[in-house]
Amino acid sequence: MNQENQPLKFGHFDDAAREYVITNPQTPWPWINYLGNDDFFSLISNTAGGYSFYKDAKFRRLTRYRYNGVPMDNGGRYFYICDGDTTWNPGWKPMKTPLDAYECRHGMSYTRITGRKNDVEASVLFFVPLGENAELQKLSIKNLSQETKRLQLFSFTEWCLWNAATDMENFQRNFSTGEVEIEGSTIYHKTEYRERRNHYAFYSVNAPMQGFDTDREQFVGLYNGFHEPQAVLERQPRNSVAHGWSPIASHYFDFELQPGEQRDFIFMLGYVENDDDKKFVGPQVINKEKALQMMARYDTTAKADAAFDALRKHWDELLSNFQVETDNPKLDRMVNIWNQYQCMVTFNMSRSASFFESGIGRGMGFRDSNQDLVGFIHLIPAKARQRIIDIASTQFPDGSCYHQYQPLTRRGNNDIGSGFNDDPCWLIFGTTAYIKETGDFGILDEQVPFDNQPGSEETLMEHLRRSFNHVADNLGPHGLPLIGRADWNDCLNLNCFSTNPDESYQTTENKTEGSKAESLMIAGLFVFTGEQYVELCQRVGQNGEAQRAEQCIQQMREAVEKHGWDGSWYLRAYDFFGNKIGSNENDEGKIFIESQGWCAMARIGAEQGMPEKSLDSVKQHLECEHGIILNQPAYTHWHVEMGEISSYPPGYKENAGIFCHNNPWVIIAETLAGRGQDAWQHYTKILPSYVEERNSLLHKVEPYVNCQMVAGSDAATPGQGKNSWLTGTAAWMWITAAWHILGIQPGYDALTIDPCLPKEARTYRVTRRLRNAVYHIQVNNPNGKEKGVSQILLDGQPISGNKIPYAEGEHEVEVTL
Ligand code: BGC
Ligand code: NOJ
Repeated sequence: MNQENQPLKFGHFDDAAREYVITNPQTPWPWINYLGNDDFFSLISNTAGGYSFYKDAKFRRLTRYRYNGVPMDNGGRYFYICDGDTTWNPGWKPMKTPLDAYECRHGMSYTRITGRKNDVEASVLFFVPLGENAELQKLSIKNLSQETKRLQLFSFTEWCLWNAATDMENFQRNFSTGEVEIEGSTIYHKTEYRERRNHYAFYSVNAPMQGFDTDREQFVGLYNGFHEPQAVLERQPRNSVAHGWSPIASHYFDFELQPGEQRDFIFMLGYVENDDDKKFVGPQVINKEKALQMMARYDTTAKADAAFDALRKHWDELLSNFQVETDNPKLDRMVNIWNQYQCMVTFNMSRSASFFESGIGRGMGFRDSNQDLVGFIHLIPAKARQRIIDIASTQFPDGSCYHQYQPLTRRGNNDIGSGFNDDPCWLIFGTTAYIKETGDFGILDEQVPFDNQPGSEETLMEHLRRSFNHVADNLGPHGLPLIGRADWNDCLNLNCFSTNPDESYQTTENKTEGSKAESLMIAGLFVFTGEQYVELCQRVGQNGEAQRAEQCIQQMREAVEKHGWDGSWYLRAYDFFGNKIGSNENDEGKIFIESQGWCAMARIGAEQGMPEKSLDSVKQHLECEHGIILNQPAYTHWHVEMGEISSYPPGYKENAGIFCHNNPWVIIAETLAGRGQDAWQHYTKILPSYVEERNSLLHKVEPYVNCQMVAGSDAATPGQGKNSWLTGTAAWMWITAAWHILGIQPGYDALTIDPCLPKEARTYRVTRRLRNAVYHIQVNNPNGKEKGVSQILLDGQPISGNKIPYAEGEHEVEVTL
């Protein structure tokens, strides 16, 4: 194990391998990765903790994970290696036996954990083969000593009784339902299969096992922990068969390794569904046909290696759609590898399953998924297309939307319902970005239902019209958008007035009747996405509709200039009673980031210099060394008329935390104002590779991805990150870098080239693939300009303007600023 004294870092980037290499297992928080690309997913920490599920982390949970565990990160897939008196795990946990060497490499949809103890090396490669509903675990054990080694090996995983919520609470039932079958070297988990379930899970290995356990109590011991399983300590499997209580799966091997010899095992954790009439082959004997076929596909090292190669190639191809070469490796590794990877993960997970999201609460978010997909379209456009249709199908006929939906059923979630008045705008944002990348105007003609009701179908274009109108038709006394339950800031609950601690701010019935609560954030978002709607209408020949929409947008601009400007920045909102929020007149919460970002991106009041003044105010009042804070001054006490925002202690979350998701809005607004230096400064403050270099210990969470929130300067621990991985920050950092800083932005019929750079940036090269074309774009900035293209050569010929019309094939583009 790494005993070097490196308090600020726990690993490093390996860019050639596209990996982050963790060299000390005692990271300041579990540093996780995601496995799986389609339907089967796993979370895996740097000590092999985490869990697996099929499609839905709540309803189809395969393995159990312990929330609020002590110690942290309890449960996962563990291999116990017994070597004489010593027992150890390659990932250090749960035995925590000090290792002679430890390394965890998190890569693109795979993780490799290697440990060494007493001249035995064990390396486990975890991944989900493409298109397969299973996690493979390729374990290679090697004897590095000069002696023959006799080793015992125990695998271990604990089944979840499928529904991750009831699994944690309904013990009066759970302790009687668990059932397993054991056949060959496979342990089948078939709880509830006798009744309504048509699915089971299995854990197998490609060698004849010499013992097993399926009952937790017999394997671990009732009063023992995972770090002292009785069967392992005694080197004696119990061959237990679980009936109720807590079913587990453990295989046992006892074998010798000659000096230098290596042995591989391929373990497989799989999920199978059977048709109702094919569930059983005998009385209570499950049909194993599909499972056996799956196992046969990976029953040799060569087959597993081939599946891993295919996964690597898949990622090579995905990432090749956008690659940049600058002289700054910290930028390149984020843009080329980790930012794109995080966009894939947020696309797949929305806000469902991480080490901060339990997988039980929120499913897919309407606004979240619309934003996530924009960072993902260039990777797999067809999946983005389907997602847009799924999301739009949860819209209501009046244009409002279910705030969340379950991935398994794709149905809107009634617990939270609708009423977040920013939601409809994001559908325009997602759909237009998709069409610009792909040219697929056909999606607009798709027949899409409302609230998933058959017979209610209208075209997607009609959904967009209703989205636009939902804002335009719901204006308050100042002609600004009514906020509803909340806008993007879920915690600015201006119509909630909840005084009961047993209610959720998010789901409690709101008092919208007679409310004057209006949002300047929605105003900016409406103008910005409204312009996108207008442009789309023009493209499809709906010129009358474009004109009508343009008028609404113009009125909104005027309303903001008149009632939404506070002198040096944009107001944030008007509350239920019509009082200002985010005004210099307030004692606390004088200025907020969201309305600065969106109104400045929409360039509202540009003639009076409002965007630039607002951005200057952001720098003056909201910027700190770790990023841009959401609001200042923080609320120091709770305000019933504001809801959840003031429930947070100062410096955290929506109360003056650095809520990374919204930083890019300001950064983009800076680029639209042509201020490349300022944009770069804001951008690198929250760019993970820069944060990693500053202080990983303070930052606490994974250094290779963005987190949702970094504690702000009012907090006890400024700079400490929380809620890593699942955040709209991923997509927005992508949009910021790709479209606005590097300046390669897909349009309907051309690629616009409009970089906005820090002064020191001199040259870079981007390879961009889309629409059956490859553009090799060389950007030169000989005079250190921040913005403004002066010349473009397309395949050697000068063009006028900065738009490269799409044309199939390979093209050289030379851009001079
Ligand atoms: C959090 C928000 C989150 C919301 C969702 C709030 O407590 O602060 O960030 O979106 O819960 O339920
Ligand atoms: C997290 C939610 O997922 C997102 O939709 C919201 O905008 C932010 N919290 C801010 O409240």
